[in-house]
Amino acid sequence: MEQKRMAGVKATEYIKDGMILGLGTGSTAYYMIERVGEMVKKGLKIQAVATSESTTRLANQFMIPLVSIDEVKEIDLVIDGVDEIDPDFNAIKGGGGALFREKMVAKVAKEVIWIMDSSKTVDALGAFPLPVEILPYGYQHIMARLERLQYNPKLRRNNKEIYITDNHNYIADLWIEKPLKVKEVEEKLKNITGVLETGLFLNLCDRIIIGNDTGVKIIE
Ligand code: 5RP
Repeated sequence: MEQKRMAGVKATEYIKDGMILGLGTGSTAYYMIERVGEMVKKGLKIQAVATSESTTRLANQFMIPLVSIDEVKEIDLVIDGVDEIDPDFNAIKGGGGALFREKMVAKVAKEVIWIMDSSKTVDALGAFPLPVEILPYGYQHIMARLERLQYNPKLRRNNKEIYITDNHNYIADLWIEKPLKVKEVEEKLKNITGVLETGLFLNLCDRIIIGNDTGVKIIE
C-alpha cells in the first residue's frame, strides 16, 4: 500500500492550475485522488473527468469538481493505475472493471501517467487475465467465439451474480497463453461483434511512476 501511495502522490506533482484532469480507478488511483482533494481544498483550480462510478463517488467525497467527458474537448492529463505493464508501456487494465471509460478518457488525453507498485512491471504481459467488456445481448455466443480462439474466457462474477460494469455490460476475463501477442490479440478481439472494448492499452501512456521500497521511479 505504501508503494501505491507514493506513486499516486508523486503523480499529482504534474497537475497544474486550470487543467482538465482524468481521474483513474483503483486502489493506487485512490491515493492520487485523495491528494488532489487536498490540493483543491488549498485552492488548486481544476476540473476532473472520472473513469468510473466509484471514482465519481470518491471525487465527490473529496470535493473535486467533476465534469462529464462530453463537456470537454480534451483532457490535459490522466493519472490511472494498471494491472500489468511491459517494458514497451503496453498494459493490461480493467482489473477493477472500468476499462472502457479508462480507455475512452486516455484516448482523449494529451498526456497519460500510470501509477503502480513494483509488482505491476513484467517482462511480458499475460500472467494477469485480460479483461474485455462484452455486451449482455448474445453474451453466450460472444463467450463461444472467445473459446474458439482458445482465450479461455471466464465470465466475471461477484459471488454468484454476474458482474455488471458501470456501462451495464459484462466482463470476460481471458486466460490467454503467454507470451501475449498484444497486437494480434487486440485485432482479433476487436473483430468480435459484441466486444465493446479490451483491457489491452497499447501506445497510450507517456510516463509511468512506480513506487518501490526506496521511493519512486519515473520512466518516460
Ligand atoms: C481498473 C483498473 C485499475 O487501474 C487497475 O486494476 C489497477 O488497480 P489497483 O491500483 O487497485 O492495483 O484498470 O479498471
